[in-house]
Amino acid sequence: MGIVTALMAEAFDPAYGEAWTAGQCLGILSLSGVWLTLASIDGAPAGFALARSTLDEAELLLLATTPQWRRRGVGGQLLRSVMRDAAARGACKLHLEVRAGNAAIGLYQREGFSKTGERRNYYRGHDGRAIDAHSFMRLLDNFER
Ligand SMILES: CC(C)(COP(=O)(O)OP(=O)(O)OC[C@H]1O[C@@H](n2cnc3c(N)ncnc32)[C@H](O)[C@@H]1OP(=O)(O)O)[C@@H](O)C(=O)NCCC(=O)NCCS
Repeated sequence: MGIVTALMAEAFDPAYGEAWTAGQCLGILSLSGVWLTLASIDGAPAGFALARSTLDEAELLLLATTPQWRRRGVGGQLLRSVMRDAAARGACKLHLEVRAGNAAIGLYQREGFSKTGERRNYYRGHDGRAIDAHSFMRLLDNFER
């Protein structure tokens, strides 16, 4: 769990209040259907993804790459690994929510996700400002189940 909280502290901008506490991570990992994927480069942690599957649907909960390894494909590899694992667990769709304006949206669109909706004022930054979330979804029909 230390690896995840260290990666999270490095990867998430505190301005947006998106990072989870160690307690929140431990709590979610104890739920059934939740799994963690770690990426490492030369033995050092480079990123992680946290996801959950329920029946035939799955959700990407968190995705992060350490700043020094960004834009070299780590996030894309983690995302594809989550898609494969979600399909293997029986999911037909992978959902996610992302802060409006997050550069990650470019990655999600590149990996075949389509916008399905918006949630007004879903996130709250440390300055109290409310930020919308955009919902995305990708069918997993080209992954083996
Ligand atoms: C989103 C994130 C996981 C992407 O990781 P990554 O290892 O850089 O991912 P990849 O290299 O596979 O793909 C990066 C793609 O994201 C988009 N992107 C990421 N940062 C960008 C930026 N600063 N400007 C424009 N596009 C950007 C682009 O589409 C980019 O593709 P490109 O490099 O071919 O142009 C990483 O930026 C991150 O950890 N961000 C902070 C945490 C976060 O917001 N997570 C998502 C919400 S949970």
